Amino acid sequence: MKVIVAKTAGFCWGVKRAMDAVLEASVRNDGRTVQTLGPLIHNPQALELIGRRGVAVAEAPDKVQAGTVVIRAHGIPIQDLRGLKERQAKGELKIVNATCPEVAKVHHKIKKWSPKGYFTVILGSHGHAESVAHRSFADSGSLIVSNMAEAEALTDEQLKKVLVVAQTTFTVKDYHTITDYIRTRAVDAVFENTICEDTWMRQDEARELARTVDTVIVVGGKASSNTKHLAELAHHYGKPVQYVETAAELDLRAFTGRETVGVLAGASTPTWLVDEVVDVLEQLGDGPSRWRSFLQAAFGSSSLLATGAAFMTLG
Ligand code: F3S
Repeated sequence: MKVIVAKTAGFCWGVKRAMDAVLEASVRNDGRTVQTLGPLIHNPQALELIGRRGVAVAEAPDKVQAGTVVIRAHGIPIQDLRGLKERQAKGELKIVNATCPEVAKVHHKIKKWSPKGYFTVILGSHGHAESVAHRSFADSGSLIVSNMAEAEALTDEQLKKVLVVAQTTFTVKDYHTITDYIRTRAVDAVFENTICEDTWMRQDEARELARTVDTVIVVGGKASSNTKHLAELAHHYGKPVQYVETAAELDLRAFTGRETVGVLAGASTPTWLVDEVVDVLEQLGDGPSRWRSFLQAAFGSSSLLATGAAFMTLG
């Protein structure tokens, strides 16, 4: 059995930046509370690791204690950020803003068009922290649209003057299908394809891999939007897909008779979890050196591998 690990598997640069920020804050805390407002990223194992470093999670702005607060990679609503800044001005709090710059770009687009009266349509997932934060910048009204049926339900009034943006991890194919439809109805529309480069590269590679392998393994958090989309893409090619958070969830019986297995991972999946999955596959295959070489080929001496190794020593 041949195992192919996607080159894009593992932390994207925005998640790595957020993880670095929180780990640095936990080292420089001077004995004060370090917390994130909501989960920093959508990966339970990475969050557990942060928790072991003493970083707490404040579930709501009014639960943030004096000390340091790290803003999650998905960003937070502008009203919440203003409230935290007021407390920072009083000397109660230090804010470390780990909002991914790609997410912040979407905020800027909405801040540009919304004051001109454009209704904002956000192509994304309902309730997802990133899309919820985007809505807070839309003073002229907004809606999250997650599929074609919801796009068809948009009113003529909403489409009279409309800005369309996307959650950074939205599916590229769905973005084009939905925006093509909106184009046919909107009177004055501005389209900003804000899907980040990491997302479309990861989806491209998932498509490529799903075409060529017998089975696809997707490693990542079950609440991770971009990881879910990878699993959906692989399903689309009719291949058996195992969507797991850890190697312990793999159904090993399903690999019997398989010749090639592709391993994908979301933007918030730590490299060490991908590594563990590959380690388990080693036991089914021809030997460790063969599988290890795939991992090395995928990550080489990149900072991702270094980050994974560093995290493994933290606990
Ligand atoms: Fe940022 Fe894109 Fe990653 S928005 S957090 S680089 S998936």
